Amino acid sequence: MASWGLQNRLSRMIDPSTGTSVMLACDHGYFMGPTQKLEQPRKTIEPLIPFADALSVTRGILRQCVDPNWKVPILLRVSGGASIMKEDLSDEEITVSMDDALRLNVSGISLSIFVGSSHEKQTLLSLSRLVDQGERVGMPVMAITAVGKELEKRDSRYLSLACRLAAEIGAHVVKTYYCEDFGRVVNGCPVPLVVAGGPKLKTETDAFELAFSALREGAVGVDMGRNIWQNEHPVAMIKAIRSIVHDKATVKEATDLFQQELTDSERLRNPITA
Ligand code: 5RP
Repeated sequence: MASWGLQNRLSRMIDPSTGTSVMLACDHGYFMGPTQKLEQPRKTIEPLIPFADALSVTRGILRQCVDPNWKVPILLRVSGGASIMKEDLSDEEITVSMDDALRLNVSGISLSIFVGSSHEKQTLLSLSRLVDQGERVGMPVMAITAVGKELEKRDSRYLSLACRLAAEIGAHVVKTYYCEDFGRVVNGCPVPLVVAGGPKLKTETDAFELAFSALREGAVGVDMGRNIWQNEHPVAMIKAIRSIVHDKATVKEATDLFQQELTDSERLRNPITA
C-alpha cells in the first residue's frame, strides 16, 4: 500500500472518481529545444490549463513559464543529458534532485528509460534510485518507455518488455506509446499506463482514434503534447481528447465536439458572418 502522501499526489493527477487522466505533455524542449509551437511555452500552455489534469514540464519551464497560482498538478521531467544533436538519445541521467522536486511541490516526477539501448542499465538504475527516494518522501515516479535506436519499431513485444521492466523496478505509473496489440502491453504491466501521442498525426481523427483505442484497451489516460498544441485549434483538441478520456466519447462524438468548438469560436470571433 502506497504511503498517504504518495497516494494523495497520484490522485491529484489521476482523477480517483474515474481513474482516468488527461496529462498535457510540454517537456519536449529538454532535448528538442524550442520545438514548433512550443517556442514560447507560456503562450502555448496557458489556454490549455483549465482542461489538463496534470502538466508535464521541466524545472526551468516550470519556474519561468508556469504561474504558481495556476491550479494544475505538475509532473516534473527529471531526466536529461542528451539532445537531438547527438546520434544516441539514450545517454540520460537524473537532472533534478528530489529536494528540488519537493520544494517545487510537484505531484509526480518522470524520467525516460531506454530499454535495449546502449544506456539501458544506466537509465534503469536511475529509475530504481528515484523510486527509492520517491517511496521515502511520498513522490510518485513515472517511467517513460522511450524506444531504443535498435528497437525502433513500436511493437507490443518491445513495449510490453519495457513497461514490465519499469513496473518491476517500482515505477508507480508508466508512459508508453500506443501500438498494435496494445492489450498485451497493458496485460503485462501491473501499474497504470498512459499513452503519449507521438509526432503530430495527419488528422485530428487519427489522434482521437489513438486515444480511444488506448483507453479501450486499458490505458488510464494520455500524456499528450504535439497532437494537441501543434494543432491549429489546441483548445478544441484538448476538449475533444478529454471527452474520450473522461466521458467515454466515441471517435465520432469527439470529432463532432471538435467541429462544434470550431463553429462556436468562429461565431464568437465573427458574430455576423458565422
Ligand atoms: C518528450 C516526452 C513527451 O512528454 C511525450 O512524448 C508526450 O508528448 P507527445 O504526445 O508530443 O509525444 O516524453 O520526451
